[in-house]
Amino acid sequence: MSIFPKYRPRRLRRNQTIRRMIRETTLSINDLILPIFVTFGRNVKKPIGSMPGHYQISIDNLAKEVKEVKDLGIPAVILFGIPEHKDKVGSEAYNPKGIIQQAIKAIKDKTPELVVITDVCMCEYTSHGHCGIIKNNDVDNDATIELLAKEALSHAKAGADIVAPSDMMDGRVGAIRNILDDNNFSHIPIMSYAAKYASAFYGPFREAAESTPQFGDRRSYQMDPANSNEALREAALDIEEGADIIMVKPALPYLDIIRRIKDEFNYPVAAYNVSGEFAMIKAAEKLGWMDGERAMMESLISIKRAGADLILTYFAKEAAKILGGKI
Ligand code: PBG
Repeated sequence: MSIFPKYRPRRLRRNQTIRRMIRETTLSINDLILPIFVTFGRNVKKPIGSMPGHYQISIDNLAKEVKEVKDLGIPAVILFGIPEHKDKVGSEAYNPKGIIQQAIKAIKDKTPELVVITDVCMCEYTSHGHCGIIKNNDVDNDATIELLAKEALSHAKAGADIVAPSDMMDGRVGAIRNILDDNNFSHIPIMSYAAKYASAFYGPFREAAESTPQFGDRRSYQMDPANSNEALREAALDIEEGADIIMVKPALPYLDIIRRIKDEFNYPVAAYNVSGEFAMIKAAEKLGWMDGERAMMESLISIKRAGADLILTYFAKEAAKILGGKI
C-alpha cells in the first residue's frame, strides 16, 4: 500500500457520485421489519408517549396500518400483543382467540404477502410481567418452555410466517421446533432472540407493551451486558436446536456481538434496534440537539455494517420513505 503523499484517501470522497461508487454497505427496504403493538378494544389508536409515531392499535384499525406498511415496500412486521386479561400463567398467549392470533388473521386476510412475525414470550400476558411461569419466586425454565411451544404453535395455526421467541429460557428453540414439526409446520422458520441482553434500553417498550416486571428484574434469564463469548454459546445452542435466523438485541450497544456472530456462524443475523435507541434519537431531535433523520440513517447503516442482514426497527416507516423505491 502506498502512503501519503502518493496515496490520498480523500480522492475517493470527492463528490457524491464517487462516494456512492465506493460505498461498502447498503441499506435497503428489504432489510426492515416494523414492530407493531396490538391492543384489545375497538377503534383504538393510542399514542405511546416515549415512542413518537407509534401506537397501541386495535385489530379493527390494523388493516389500514399494515396496508401503509406494505405500500411502503416494508416486507415484514413483528407483532406484540396487549391482552385484555392477564393471569399467572399467561393464558392469553396461547388462546386460539387471543389478541395476537386474531391480529395475524386480520393481517393475513387483507395483506397476505406481508410477512407476519410473532414475538413468542409470556411477559405481556402474565400478571407478574415476567417472561415465564413463577415457581419459588423464580421463573421456572422447563415449565415455561412447554407454554412457549404452545404459544408458537397457536401463532403458526393462526397464520404466522415466522415465530420469534424472546424469552431467553434454555431449550425453548428446540421445544418450539419439535412442536411445529410434529404439527405440520416444519416450513415455519424460527427467528430466535439468541443474544438478548438485560438492558435499560427496553424502557419505552415496557410502557408500550405494558410488560414491566412487577417484582425483581430479568437478569436471571437475559444476558449480562459484559459478556460476549457467552453470546456465541447462546447462538450456537439456538442453531443446534433449529433456529433459522439469529437475533442480537439491543443493536447499537452490541455491534461487536453482531459482528462476532456473523463471522462465527454465517447465518442470517437480525438486530433489534430497540425502543430506547429509537427514543434517544427522537428526544434529542425534539430538543434540537441532533439531526434526527441523519442519526437514524447512520444508526441503521452501522447495524448493517456490523453484519446484520435484517433490522427490527421503529424507524422502519421513516427509513422506507427515504429509501423509497430502491427495493
Ligand atoms: C419481550 C420483549 C421485550 C422487547 C421485545 N420483546 C421486552 C423485554 O424483554 O423486557 C423489547 C423491545 C424494545 O425495547 O424495543 N420479552
